[in-house]
Amino acid sequence: MNQTIETIMRRKGVKSYTSQQVNESDINIIISAGIAGPIARNIQNRHFTVVQNKELLQQINDGLRVLTDAPSDYNPLYGAPTLIITSAPIENAPFADQNCAIAVENMTLAATALGLGSRYIVSPTRFIESEIGSTLKQAVGIPKGYRSVACLIVGYDADPSQTPVSRNMDVVNYVK
Ligand SMILES: Cc1cc2nc3c(=O)[nH]c(=O)nc-3n(C[C@H](O)[C@H](O)[C@H](O)COP(=O)(O)O)c2cc1C
Repeated sequence: MNQTIETIMRRKGVKSYTSQQVNESDINIIISAGIAGPIARNIQNRHFTVVQNKELLQQINDGLRVLTDAPSDYNPLYGAPTLIITSAPIENAPFADQNCAIAVENMTLAATALGLGSRYIVSPTRFIESEIGSTLKQAVGIPKGYRSVACLIVGYDADPSQTPVSRNMDVVNYVK
């Protein structure tokens, strides 16, 4: 099978990670893949924030758990050592959600191609954009006037034997 297609088919949303950190070179490739995605009107206005600081990751994880009233053993960041937050201007940023979503999808495919585990998640944005998350938003350096839109967690898959979830293929119609 073509390698790109194989990577797309092999990707899965990983829910458990080892403690091993992703190296800088792989992070740079992943970010470059995110930046390479299509963007409406070629407005290069989305921003990427890479969070590897353990304390800040813990703050986001725990803050989100409390905010969503989730059980105490639930970790919304799944123990991933890296969180990449995409953000876009709050004002005058048409198609910001799509632009960020595409960037995250490109990054998850790049991570898969590099042998890493990853997952597309939006839940951290609920905490980051909340009133109690505003200090954290500043601490991680999301640009002023931007809102977080979509995120990627990335690391080494702690359960690599897990296969991708099955898909309902009965979702297409053809007109010839
Ligand atoms: C827009 C979007 C938002 C998502 N948000 C979350 C999230 O907040 N937390 C989470 O655990 N997974 C999240 N996911 C991952 C999906 O739950 C996951 O992709 C889906 O269950 C299919 O599994 P797969 O990625 O392994 O194919 C999100 C996915 C998308 C596309």
